Amino acid sequence: MPSWSALRAHNASTKLANATFLVVGGTAGIGRATALKLAAMNASVAVAGRNAAAGSTIIAEMQKLNPDGKHEFLPIDMTLLADVRRFAKEFAAAHSSLRGLVISAGFMTMAGRTETVEGIDQKLAVHYYSRQLLFKKLMPMLEATAASGQEARLMSIFASCLGNTVNFDDLDLKHTYSLKTAADAASGYNDLAVDALSKQHPTVPAIHIRPGMVGTGLMDSFPFYLRLPAKAIISVVGTSPEDCAEAMVYALTAPEYNKGWWLLNEKADILKPNTKYHNDETRDKVWAHTEQLIG
Ligand SMILES: NC(=O)c1ccc[n+]([C@@H]2O[C@H](COP(=O)([O-])OP(=O)(O)OC[C@H]3O[C@@H](n4cnc5c(N)ncnc54)[C@H](OP(=O)(O)O)[C@@H]3O)[C@@H](O)[C@H]2O)c1
Repeated sequence: MPSWSALRAHNASTKLANATFLVVGGTAGIGRATALKLAAMNASVAVAGRNAAAGSTIIAEMQKLNPDGKHEFLPIDMTLLADVRRFAKEFAAAHSSLRGLVISAGFMTMAGRTETVEGIDQKLAVHYYSRQLLFKKLMPMLEATAASGQEARLMSIFASCLGNTVNFDDLDLKHTYSLKTAADAASGYNDLAVDALSKQHPTVPAIHIRPGMVGTGLMDSFPFYLRLPAKAIISVVGTSPEDCAEAMVYALTAPEYNKGWWLLNEKADILKPNTKYHNDETRDKVWAHTEQLIG
C-alpha cells in the first residue's frame, strides 16, 4: 500500500502541462480538491456542476495555481441524461483532447425513490447512469488522446467494492428501492461498469475508487441529529479533501494503473472484487441493462 508520503512524492514530481482534465462534481468537496491539485500540477482543468458561483471561485483559485492553464466552469445537471448528452456534445466540440475524466458528483438524502422526468431515480442517475453515459459519450476523446501518445484515464469516485447484491429482476430498482438497495446498486454497478468499459475500450484505463470518510459538505442536507454525529466521527477518523485529493490524483497518474480496470481504496491501493457478485455473467447483464437505459 503506498504511504501518504509516497503518494505526495509521486504527485510532487509529476507535471501535467498540456494535459486537460474534466472534473464533474468539481465545485465542492473531493472533486474541488482534486481539481485544485491537478491545476497545481500544471494541468488545465474544466470543472462541471450546477453551482456557477462556486465554479467561478474555483476557476480563480486554479488560475492562481497555474496561470498558464486554461480553466473553466461548465454547467451540468447529472440527474438528467438529456443534460449529460447536451454537455458531452458541447464539451467534445470545444476540446481536442482529454487526459482524464473524473466524476465525483454526488449527494446524500434519506428520501426514497425520487424519479426524474426521465423515470430514473435521482440518486441512481447521479451516482451511476449519468456517469456511464458521460464516459461513453466522451470515450472517443479519451481514445483519441490515448492514440496520440498521451495517456487518458477515466475515474468514478464513489464506493468501490461495497455493493454486495444484484437483483436481475429489478436492475433499476423500480420495485425494490430502499436506501440500502440504492447504495448497493450504485456501488456494485460502478465496479462492474469499469470492467465492462475497459473490455470495450482497452486503451483507456477505467478506475472506480472509494474516497473513504472525507470532511466535506456531503452530509449538510441531513437533519442535525444525523449530521452532527457523522461529522464528529469524520473529524476523528476521516481525512481532509486535500489529503483525499492526493490519492485521487495518484490514481489518475501512477504508472501502475496505466492499463486495464481498477477498483481502488482511499489510499489508491488495489481492492479485489467479490467474485460472488462480480463475475462475467453479472457484468454483462448489468452492462446490457445500462446501455439500454442510457440509450
Ligand atoms: N465525503 C465522503 O466521506 C464520501 C464517502 C464515500 C463516498 N463519497 C462519494 O464521493 C463523491 C464526492 O463526495 P463529496 O464528499 O465531495 O460531496 P460534496 O462535497 O457534497 O460535493 C458533491 C459535488 O457533486 C456535485 N453535484 C451534486 N449533484 C449534482 C448534479 N445533479 N449534477 C451535477 N453535479 C452535482 C456538486 O456540485 P453542484 O452543487 O455544483 O452541482 C458538488 O460539486 C460522491 O459521489 C460521494 O457519494 C464521499
